[in-house]
Amino acid sequence: MKSILAPAIGVAAGVVFALSVPSNVRAEPPADWSMIPTTMLTLFYPGQGGYDWLRSSEHKRAYAKVIAGDSCVSCHEGEEKEIGQLIVAGERLEPNPIEGKNPTVDLKMQIAYDAENAYFRFQWPTQMDRPGQMHDYMRFDGEKWEFYGGARSEDAVRSGGEPPVYEDRLTLMIDDGSVPGFAAQGCWLTCHTGMRDMPGEPTKEQIAANPILGPDGLNAGDIRKYLPLSRTAEEAEWDATKLAEQIAALKAEGKFVDLMQWRAARSAPVNMADDGYVLEYRLFDEGKNPFSWNVDRKTMTPKFMLDANKVGVKAITVNDIGDPSKPYAVIREENAVPYDPDAGWQEGDVLPGRMVSREDAAGSAADNGQVTSEWKDGVWTVVWTRKRNTGHPEDDKIIEDGKAYNFGFAVHDDNVTTRFHYVGFPVSIGFGTEGAIQATRLQ
Ligand code: HEC
Repeated sequence: MKSILAPAIGVAAGVVFALSVPSNVRAEPPADWSMIPTTMLTLFYPGQGGYDWLRSSEHKRAYAKVIAGDSCVSCHEGEEKEIGQLIVAGERLEPNPIEGKNPTVDLKMQIAYDAENAYFRFQWPTQMDRPGQMHDYMRFDGEKWEFYGGARSEDAVRSGGEPPVYEDRLTLMIDDGSVPGFAAQGCWLTCHTGMRDMPGEPTKEQIAANPILGPDGLNAGDIRKYLPLSRTAEEAEWDATKLAEQIAALKAEGKFVDLMQWRAARSAPVNMADDGYVLEYRLFDEGKNPFSWNVDRKTMTPKFMLDANKVGVKAITVNDIGDPSKPYAVIREENAVPYDPDAGWQEGDVLPGRMVSREDAAGSAADNGQVTSEWKDGVWTVVWTRKRNTGHPEDDKIIEDGKAYNFGFAVHDDNVTTRFHYVGFPVSIGFGTEGAIQATRLQ
């Protein structure tokens, strides 16, 4: 027996067993999830409706209330399908619709916790009839390796010249009440003009001129999520960054949101999710991610290839893309050997441009080490164990018993990135206290 449910839920045998559990037994997700209540959240396609648009007069009759801090659901409760439909079809806020894309995705969730961990079980249907677990592939063209395929939003894919190749993702944001406005407006606080695939993207030179984002700071090539509290101006423009010491002080006070992503290609093959946070940018936690580049940028060749002794092939081919029975990820400690330039490469050979490794992941960035997933009959199931106290309060939110947290959820489905995802209005989740969703206490 892996887990013990509280007597209130009625597993009598569990109560007896609980008395004899050795103290070193690792806490595990519920063995029987059917005992945990299910909540369904409808995530919708948001287009370019970010922070700035919501506060502009184009958000008719609503912008003053949004500025005043009213919650999205105070006006939009139950409207997710309607909003998603308008935007995905390009009638509002989407200048470049992707043909045939679903307007919403229904995310089912079950949440439990015990003394050590929080447990989440997520399920959602995918638009494609296969798992989206391929990402950043490289193709040998007879002479050299080149990146091949990409997100559905890219011109080369829209035109049919290259295949859609981009991983499915599930994102969690957690606020413990430290970030003003997050409870009411959630993810929409983090999405701004100037970000990738949003209006007003700055040039590389403009970014380089910013002390926080430029070469003297994060050395960013583009703008990603950030919190308004990291900016000086009311409008929180991307370049109105506070001083480095002010940002450090905010972080030390816990004024950031936790952000973590389960990634079908870059973390799932080693049963992990990544771990990051949002403050002045979307950043990874201290340490090392489970994924890295499998590309030597000097020679533009892969660093590792598949181990034919283990998986039968040294690479896949263009025709294997989308075939879930083929190997799709290079896992350093499991199926990889160093790249051999003389291995007889043929035009159309394909290797992942990313490498995944559980062994190499380290530090706070490797906190999500117990995340299992399965795609079956058109549905992803992800079971996510998160330590309530990761030991890294400097870039994580610690989940305390007796407290509610504001969660934001997003799903990237069917070969997309950036704004082409689905996002839900924020929900509070209570651990041993009230919330829109109440986590079930185990043991
Ligand atoms: C005071 C009520 C109110 C609040 C609060 C509010 N909205 Fe709206 N929102 C509206 C109205 C009314 C419209 C439709 C305007 C129109 O018909 O052109 C709208 C339109 C939208 C649209 C465009 C799609 C559509 O249906 O026309 C999006 C997206 C949207 N709101 C998102 C949000 C988000 C996200 C929040 C929270 C940050 C939010 N709204 C807060 C009232 C509100």
